[in-house]
Amino acid sequence: MKYIVVFLVFAMAEITIGEARTCQQCTAIGKSDCTGQSVSCPNKHDVCANTIEQNVANGELKSVFSRRCLNKRELCRKILSANSTGIEMIQYNDCCYTNNCNKGPIKMPKKKPKENGYYCLSCFTVGSNRCIGDHKLFPCTGNERDCFVFTGKATIPGEKESTFYNSGCITEGACDYVPDIIVGTKVHKTSSIRCSAAQRARKRYLDQCEDERYKK
Ligand SMILES: *[C@@H]1O[C@H](CO)[C@@H](O)[C@H](O)[C@H]1NC(C)=O
Repeated sequence: MKYIVVFLVFAMAEITIGEARTCQQCTAIGKSDCTGQSVSCPNKHDVCANTIEQNVANGELKSVFSRRCLNKRELCRKILSANSTGIEMIQYNDCCYTNNCNKGPIKMPKKKPKENGYYCLSCFTVGSNRCIGDHKLFPCTGNERDCFVFTGKATIPGEKESTFYNSGCITEGACDYVPDIIVGTKVHKTSSIRCSAAQRARKRYLDQCEDERYKK
């Protein structure tokens, strides 16, 4: 009897191991492709993804290409973006559902997301975790319906780690997971990102409010 139990435990372990998906994994900054290494995915429901991310900081575009395990199916074939007066991040994930299927090429969808009528206050400051200067009214695009405020340390691709204050528009509901999901910028563990629902309003009205605020 004991032996049967031991056997069953092993047999079950085997099945669980067998279920873990394997995906190609690699990341390349400034390139449009990378060759992966096959890895066993950490989460049970992970899918394989080819990820392309574009980061624009100081007017300079840095593309990041990545093949990976992804535990957020809701991101598949969707645009994930966060945008502010200082930095623009836009990510697209092409998912597939069999072992090591994420080998092919991937292109960012050509259509740029359009302004959607929502606005956030945006401010970007390097070297401080407070906004130095003014918050500006900033138009959201695509599925950005939340406003974020980031404070803390991060490393923008190709640059040194710095302290930032950054606020602007972000894809609705992405606040909780965006630091883990982006492949370009590395966000320090101690940083904070908070979100609130964006305001939908006529631009003219919001401009007026802003003018009044800054006239004082
Ligand atoms: C980010 O904001 C800039 C300035 O408003 C705009 O030109 C750009 O298209 C925006 N990018 C995204 C992905 O929404």
